This record gives sequence, C-alpha cells and structure tokens, in this order.
Amino acid sequence: MEFSTVLIDWYQKNKRNLPWRDTTDPYKIWISEIILQQTRVSQGLPYYHAFITQYPTISDLAMASEKDILILWQGLGYYSRARNLHEAAKNIHLYYHGIFPSDYSTILSLKGIGEYTAAAIASFAFKLPHPVLDGNVYRFISRLFGIEEPIDTNQGKKKIQHALGIIFDQSQPDIFNQAIMEFGALQCVPKKPACDRCAFSHQCIAYKNRKVDQLPYKRGRTKVVNTFHTYFFIRYKENTYIEQRTEGIWKNLYQFPMVESLKSSEDSICELSEYFTNNPKINIIDSYTTKHLLSHRKIYATFYTINLNKRPLFLKNNIFEITMKAMGTKYPLSILIQNFMKRNTHD
Ligand code: ADE
Repeated sequence: MEFSTVLIDWYQKNKRNLPWRDTTDPYKIWISEIILQQTRVSQGLPYYHAFITQYPTISDLAMASEKDILILWQGLGYYSRARNLHEAAKNIHLYYHGIFPSDYSTILSLKGIGEYTAAAIASFAFKLPHPVLDGNVYRFISRLFGIEEPIDTNQGKKKIQHALGIIFDQSQPDIFNQAIMEFGALQCVPKKPACDRCAFSHQCIAYKNRKVDQLPYKRGRTKVVNTFHTYFFIRYKENTYIEQRTEGIWKNLYQFPMVESLKSSEDSICELSEYFTNNPKINIIDSYTTKHLLSHRKIYATFYTINLNKRPLFLKNNIFEITMKAMGTKYPLSILIQNFMKRNTHD
C-alpha cells in the first residue's frame, strides 16, 4: 500500500477530535495554529474557544483593542503572537475587505505567519499542496529516512524537506498534513515510542539501525542568559503602582516598577528611595525570590513588598496608581507577575 494510504488510515482510526479540524474557515485555522505554536493542545483549547467566542471574525479582531486581546492571551506566553495576530487582522480588514487571502505567498506575507503556519492554513483551508513541517514531522521524517544531519542546520532541513516531498500526497494535502503531524504527536513520540505497534516500523531506517532514541540529532541548544529582575510591589492603602513595558517579549504588558540587571540584584533595592520625590516612609515587609525560565533567558526575580505611609509621588512619570483588584483584570500581566499575585492571595 502507498505510504499516504497507510498514514491516513492510521489517522482516521487514531486522531483526536479537535475543533479546528471540523472547519475550513481560514480565520479559525489561523487562530488555532498561532495558539498551538509553543503551546500544548490541552493548554491551548480553552484559549481557542475563548478567542473565537470573543472575536468570531477577522473584523471583530481587527477592531478590538490590543489591551483586550492581551488580557485574553494572558497566561499563554510569547505575547508577540497576539500582537502579530492583531496587526495581521487589521491589515486583512483594511487591504483585503476582511477576507482571508487564499494564496500561499499572500498568506506568508502576513505578520507572524512563517512557512509552517502558511502551509497549514493553505492546505487545511484551501487544499493547496504545501507540506507542513513542524517539530513532530521533523522527528518522524528523520527517523523514517534515517536522516542524521542535525535538524537545526540548513543541510538537515533541506534533507528533511526533500524526504517529505517524496511521501507527500498532493491530491489530499489537508488530510495528509493533519495525519503526519498527528502521527508525530501521538505515535512517533520523542521518548519511548511504541515501535512494535507502528505501521511504518518495517520501513523505518532508524528502527532498523536501532537509532530511534537518538534521532533527530540537534547541533546545539540556544544559550540561556541569566538576568535579574527586582520588582517593587508598593502599597498605599488599597492601591498599588504599575508601569507598562515598552519593549521585549512582554511589550505592552504591565508590571510593578522594576530594575533589571545582568548581575545579582542585591543592590537594586537601594534604588528604591530614588523613585519617590516626596520622601514617604518606606517599610519593606516582605521579599520573595523566584526563578522564571523563558526560551532564551533565566530570570531571577525578587519581589519586595513595600508599605508606604503616604501617597507616593514618582520621579518616573510612566508609573501610575491602580487598585490591587484591577491587577490582571484591567491590566494584562506576564505569567511571572501573575504567579506572584496568586502566591500573595493564597498566603
Ligand atoms: N499543533 C499545531 N497544529 C496542530 C493541529 N492542526 N492539530 C493538532 N496539533 C497541532
């Protein structure tokens, strides 16, 4: 039997029922694919439903405020994904009459859409013959064909693309793409795959050569840089003080006033008195340190809880006063700040 027939047969028997698989609406498929970048299906599902409910069409998303979108996105991380969604929706609304483009190169030109997402939307929504290559497909192909070049090099990527081209089914790209990703996600898993129950073990080169647990190779992981954040959770009566980030992965999210350094943050507390112009009495009642891991950065965060005896006046004019209740409901926060807030309310 042909490769594609066996694969699709496996898919029909084993696939998960996921809402974005019951639609050819490119908008819904797009939202699902962006949510599922860097996010597990189980974690992404409630966000998908919430997003589609709040913004049922491209134009609804285009008209929304970035702040509301970020509030909905809270907890998913990689917030540039949400900002790019908004930017692309505005452009589709403005330049394409709110109709999602149906050719691969226009889809690829949209903000936040790379080769993988463009191929996913083009094939699932428009049945265009573009193979998808996500992490699951990389793993399956590298094992099936015994490709030993590291997959994070240009040469490795080319080999995988070439091999995928050989087995790709042009006549049903939508089902083939869903099936091959699902096969990688459920059957050809990273650790201890059940090769004795695999439909392709008789033709899998890695299986034959006992290299399943070694493939795919990677040349090297990205280096993780340590960074130190000192947050000032300043309280006066029922109020606290926040600022909006202007750059980086947490751009436009809100946080307590913060000092960042590349060395230990021990000295940063000394900078606190310089924040105020009216010398309130500073009473530090708690300090809490935690670690927060991002893909390229390990953040050592220290939160100081500070009570003041009078309403502070700040030197920096982007810091403003809110009630503690408004944190996280009216102002979107990073997971790091949310976790701190949760810890405080549970204490
Ligand atoms: N991960 C990324 N895209 C997916 C999809 N369409 N179905 C399941 N998991 C996915």
